[in-house]
Amino acid sequence: MSLKDSSTEQDYWNDFYEKCVIDVPSQFCVSMLTDISKRKTVVEFGSGNGRDSLYMASIGHVLVAMDLSVEAIEKCNSSMISQGVKHAVFLHGDMSNDVDVQKALAVARGNAHADEPELVIYSRFVMHSLDDEQEKNFLTSLSGYMKPGEKLYLEFRSTEDAVTDKYYGNTNHYRRYIDTTKFVKSLSENCGFEVNYSVTGQGMARYKEEDPFISRILATKK
Ligand SMILES: C[S@@+](CC[C@H](N)C(=O)[O-])C[C@H]1O[C@@H](n2cnc3c(N)ncnc32)[C@H](O)[C@@H]1O
Repeated sequence: MSLKDSSTEQDYWNDFYEKCVIDVPSQFCVSMLTDISKRKTVVEFGSGNGRDSLYMASIGHVLVAMDLSVEAIEKCNSSMISQGVKHAVFLHGDMSNDVDVQKALAVARGNAHADEPELVIYSRFVMHSLDDEQEKNFLTSLSGYMKPGEKLYLEFRSTEDAVTDKYYGNTNHYRRYIDTTKFVKSLSENCGFEVNYSVTGQGMARYKEEDPFISRILATKK
């Protein structure tokens, strides 16, 4: 059973997105977009206020995004409706729940372009918001619903980040720091992925005075 209190997490993120106004895409998102064709369908897990998903939709990607925060999802869907965008859908759901992961990928497959049906899975700054069991559930479900050759892009706080200064200080929501070597080993040995790329360092996700240690992973479903 998960040690996290899901309703506390939802309250934290609902409150956070009331105040948080970052509306430019992350460096990681932009770097992924240089890798993939515009006709690829992207599924984002833990989309937050939609800074990355809304940008991907704005440049034409078919998009499905999922988050635990109802407020954030409603705001993103309203934004899509007011802009008349029909190729992006934001779903409220829990990515550690098999049924929700299955739903996100099924919706994405249903909406994908017939000539480029492969999905790209993207999740930024979310793995470290999950506990060990949630991470395992998510990666197991994802692996089960992804097709061979489909790509997974992840960015998360690594163990080296435990001691760096945080812009938001010690918040009262769940956070852990991920041992990237173990994570990569488990992705390939337990979850059926080939890890194509893994880099850990600073300077890639700077925010105001904060320069976190993060890992970026690109993996392909075997
Ligand atoms: C640090 S924010 C990252 C948001 C966005 N990806 C970004 O880079 O700005 C973490 C997000 O993960 C979401 N989240 C945490 N646990 C989740 C879960 N079990 N299922 C879906 N979303 C979750 C939170 O609601 C929050 O929006």
